[in-house]
This record gives sequence, structure tokens and C-alpha cells, in this order.
Amino acid sequence: MTKKYVYGKPICTDAVLTKIEAEQGTVPYGKIATENGFEFAYQMDADDIVYGLGEANRGINKRGYCYISDCADDPEHTEDKRSFYAAHNFIAIAGKETFGLFFDYPSTITFDIGYTKIDMLRVSCDEANLNLYVIEGETPYEIVKQFRKMIGRSYIPPKFAFGFGQSRWGYETKEDFREVLQGYRENHIPLDMIYMDIDYMQDFKDFSLNEKEFSDFPAFVQEMKENHIRLIPIIDAGVKIEDGYSVYEEGVAGNYFCQREDGSNFVGAVWPGPVHYPDFLKEEARKWFGDQYRFLTEQGIEGFWNDMNEPSIFYSEESMEETKALLKELAEDDSKDLPVWVLMGKLGSLANSHEDYKRFYHDIDGEKVCHEKVHNLYGYYMTRSAGEAFERIDPDKRFLMFSRSSYIGMHRYGGIWTGDNKSWWSHLLLNLKMLPSLNMCGFLYAGADLGGFGADTTEDLLMRWVALGVFTPLMRNHAAKGTRKQECYQFEHIKDFRSLIEVRYRLIPYLYSEYMKAALTDDLYFKPLAFVYPNDEQAVRIEDQMMLGNEIMIAPVYTQNAKGRVVYLPEEMKFIKFLADGVITEKILEKGYHFIEVALNEVPLFVRKGKCIPVAAPTETVDELDEETIELIGYEGASYELYTDDGVGKDYENPEHYKMLKMEE
Ligand code: NOJ
Repeated sequence: MTKKYVYGKPICTDAVLTKIEAEQGTVPYGKIATENGFEFAYQMDADDIVYGLGEANRGINKRGYCYISDCADDPEHTEDKRSFYAAHNFIAIAGKETFGLFFDYPSTITFDIGYTKIDMLRVSCDEANLNLYVIEGETPYEIVKQFRKMIGRSYIPPKFAFGFGQSRWGYETKEDFREVLQGYRENHIPLDMIYMDIDYMQDFKDFSLNEKEFSDFPAFVQEMKENHIRLIPIIDAGVKIEDGYSVYEEGVAGNYFCQREDGSNFVGAVWPGPVHYPDFLKEEARKWFGDQYRFLTEQGIEGFWNDMNEPSIFYSEESMEETKALLKELAEDDSKDLPVWVLMGKLGSLANSHEDYKRFYHDIDGEKVCHEKVHNLYGYYMTRSAGEAFERIDPDKRFLMFSRSSYIGMHRYGGIWTGDNKSWWSHLLLNLKMLPSLNMCGFLYAGADLGGFGADTTEDLLMRWVALGVFTPLMRNHAAKGTRKQECYQFEHIKDFRSLIEVRYRLIPYLYSEYMKAALTDDLYFKPLAFVYPNDEQAVRIEDQMMLGNEIMIAPVYTQNAKGRVVYLPEEMKFIKFLADGVITEKILEKGYHFIEVALNEVPLFVRKGKCIPVAAPTETVDELDEETIELIGYEGASYELYTDDGVGKDYENPEHYKMLKMEE
């Protein structure tokens, strides 16, 4: 049962698809105050667990910290950070009273979950204009499933997107891409995608190609496809201001950019220098921008990643003017010592400032709405613009699409990657813990930059991270410019990387089937153990093991120099280990705690009692996977329902896609 409470005049976000009539009474849980902005307050029981918040810091149980939905381009994901790139305002409280809450509010909103007062949950925002959904159910899992039904089916990528992808900010020339292809193919490490970061563009202009390098782009795309590689270009939110550049000129002519109060186009700066920001919240602008993707789809491109769409603003014309004025003042006044801290503070606050968010407006169905009020929708609507365009470009085909910034609702149009993490062991663990929360908010196609984006990775960290990535639907190695080379073939133990990634390909029949089942039934691909073993007090508190689909539990190793890890089994399970030489070992382990040994080149998983999973022969690409090679591993006599389709079309519900496999007794 879901109840909807309407406060003030909410802005329509299109996050919820189900029509729910507004309740007249008061919310059945906690207290609401609307005199001074909006506040929901709830006294938590000492043992209550709070789930949700999708892309947010810290653990699965969100208690004990304060999180702020305020989409921000901040690459320093330290433990103290309260905001990441996304705003996923759904939580589920489980304990004495069990209920879910979705605060459909597109501006800054704070979730103080036992931070100010240890047992107090306070959710607050500046304006009492929002829809609050209260979701009731017996368990948090039921609540999550109900919530997922309300917000609509999660995005389904093409099957090739379950392959492994290599990315790096800094690939510029055709030779750079060919070198990556060669590095993988020569070493027989599976690979399906190579990502194109901003350097493929001409002067960082969206929907342009570096003229010198890519004059015959369709032929290059084809060359890569002949090697079973899809090139996946990045698209940024800001459009470079440059006379003669058609996207800029059309945008200006059509009034498609965000404007200041006086009607002039707002100017910010990102990689290309000064840019305008498309007004994705304006329907015609959304359509116009979406149609720009044709420039690349018509040249053979089948997938994209949308970046810098919080939106990222390095500085605005106004904030730069203020800074220049300050510098001038300082330069002219010899009598004063240079107050360095004032200057540093000023420069440090230039990027992603709320002052700038107040300087521009959107045109939502003819109404002028300040960006500040809808800030958290920007990335969502950019990706919606692409998703809606793909429907027009080829309604029968799935395109790969994932975004950096998001709001609930965007999960229908694309997946996400979790942005600029670092080559830190703590970020490998953060990646693991975030996965079920993302799924609760609808984001099934998700993954982090394997190996870490910023800072120099190490071979062992990359191996352990790849071993987690084996299970994440988006499996991509990505690194920042200037960092140590991070492609798998750059390291000493190339063979070990091959073995690890081969495990991914062997598991694709299972991972893809579970993804499709989860997407088609609004279920979770990654679940906390608590959702499957709610009465097991140990399992309920575990945050570093996950259930994946209905058959397995994963427990990746995430500590440096570890020879293995402790794992808790809530029931008897079959411990499966994929060894480096392709051998699979099996051992039944009883319920309870165990230390499992896992070498750097091995992948562990646990098959639940009475179940089995399909494992195929390894291949170097998704296209080459052969169902005929599938073997079942797990418990004798168990059955598994395989989902197979062409991986491209949208005839999802066809019963012919389901095949029952049975393991011999
Ligand atoms: C920021 C993104 O998060 C990162 O992945 C990308 O490499 C850089 N922008 C450059 O495009």
C-alpha cells in the first residue's frame, strides 16, 4: 500500500509513474513540520535499520551519518562527504515499524539519519513543496519491490554491455584505440567495448569528431566492430560557445539553452571553456538535444555515457567577473598584505556553486523555474533526452546508455557509473556496499571505475576490483589522465587478468538471466543478505557480502595483502572457486563463519542450497558466447531458468526466452 501526501506546489519530476490519489490526513509515521521549509522527523528504535539512498556514501544501513541530495561534481569521495553525483531520495526503515518513504523533491534535501541525535531521523528541505510517498509492507524487501513498481521498469541495456570495457581519459588517436584492442586481443583477455573520453571530440564540442583523427569515422567504427569492439563515446552536458558550430548555433536559434532572468543565455565553463547548458527540462530542447545523438548513431555508434551533467560548472561568467574584480582590488591596494586565504576561498568556491544555480532558469511547460529549485533533475533529464531520442532513432533496438548524475526516474532511461572514485581499497569496499542501495532505487545497470579513476592503481588492487567487477552489470576499467596506465595488459600477471575476466564471460548466461528477471519483475539484482534471510540476526547486519540474483551470494576480497576473507553463510551453501587455469572447485560449507582462501587470480562465489547456475565456456567477446557449452554447477538435481534472447531487441516478454535447465542427479 502506498499513500501519497502532497505539500504545497510540488514540481513534477516524472519519477513516479503509477497514478496515486493524494491522501488528506497526516502521515502515519513520524511528524511533519511545514512552517519553516519542510521537515519529517521520526524517532528510530535502537535496532531499526535504514536502507536506501542509492548512490550515497558509507554502508547499506544508512544510520549514523548525514547525507545531502545535492548532485555535485566532486571527485573527492572521502568518508566525510555528504553528497555525490546523484539524488536518490528513497529510504526504507526496518524494525519496530517498517515503512518506506520517497521524498519527490528535486532540490537540495538533507537526510540526517542519526547524525545530530543518534536515534533521530530527520529529512528536511528549504521549501514545503513536495510529494511524499509512504510505502507500507511487511518487510523492507516488499517495500522496495512496491517502490520499484511505482517508478517503472529499469533500463535494459543491449547484451554486449555485459561484456568488459576499457576506458581511459586520454585516448586521442585511432592508434591509441587500436593499441588497446591489440593489447587485449594479443593477450586473449576478453573485451567488448572501448570507451571514448572527451579527446575524441574536436575542441571538446559535443557531437563533433577530432577532424584530423576521425575524418573517416564510420570506417573506423566498422573496423572496431569487425574485431567485436563497440566504441562508446562520452557526451558532456555543456555546449561550447563557438560561432559556426552547428549545435551551438541551433541551440541559440531555438532558445534551447538555460537562460538568465533577463533572457540571455547563461554562460558557465567546462572542458571546452565557455559553454551554454541545454535546457533538458524544456520538452522541445530535450527533443532537439536527443536528436543530436544521431550524428554518432548514423556513423555506427550503439552506446554512450553522459557526463558532467550535475551540471558541472567550473565557473560562470558572473563568478569569474567577481573573482577578477577581487584580484584587481588586491593588486591596486599595496597597503594590504595579500590575504591568501580569501583568494583561495574564492577560487575554491567557484566550481559547482549554489550562487550559480540561482543565476539561471528552465522553461518547464512555459513556466520559468530557477535551476536551484530543480537542480537534481538535470542529469536525469539529459539522459531522458537521449533515451527518448533512441526510441525515435530505432524503436526496436537497445542502446547502451549510462550517466554520471541521476535522480530516481532516470533509471528507466539508462544506468549509472559512480563517478570519479580513487585507486583506494576503501573505494573498492564502497563500490560493493553501494550496489544493493542503487538497485533499490531502480539503478540495475551500474558499476564503478574498476581499479579506481584518480590516483595510481596497483596490480593487486586492480585484480581484486576486477574480481568484484565480474559481478557488476557495468564492468569497466577507467582511469584519469596522468595516472598510471591501468589497462590489464600493462601489468606483470597478464594471465591472471585473463582468468579473472574469463570468469565474467563464463558467468554471463547467469548474470544476464538474473538481470533480465530482475528488470522484468521490478526486483533486485543485488540484495542485502537481510532481504533473503530476515530472521538471521548475523545475516541482517552483513554489509560486505551480497546476494546476486536468486541463486548466489558473493563475498569479494577487498583488503590489501589478504589471503582470503571471513565469510558468513546464513545457510549451507556450495563454495565455488574459479581458479586461474579455468578449473572450478566446489565444496559444501555449513551455515556459520568460515575463512575462505582466495588468491588474487581467483573468483569465489556461493551457490545457495538446492540451486544451480549455468556456466559457459570462456570467450573473448559476448558475440562468441555459445549456449551449447553451458554446464550447470551447484546442487545436483537443481533446476535453473535461463533467459536468452538476441540481446538487442525489445521483445522482452516472449515466453520463448525462458529455458528450463536441470542438473543431473
Ligand atoms: C569526469 C568523469 O567523471 C570522468 O570519468 C571523465 O574521464 C572526465 N570527466 C573527462 O571526461
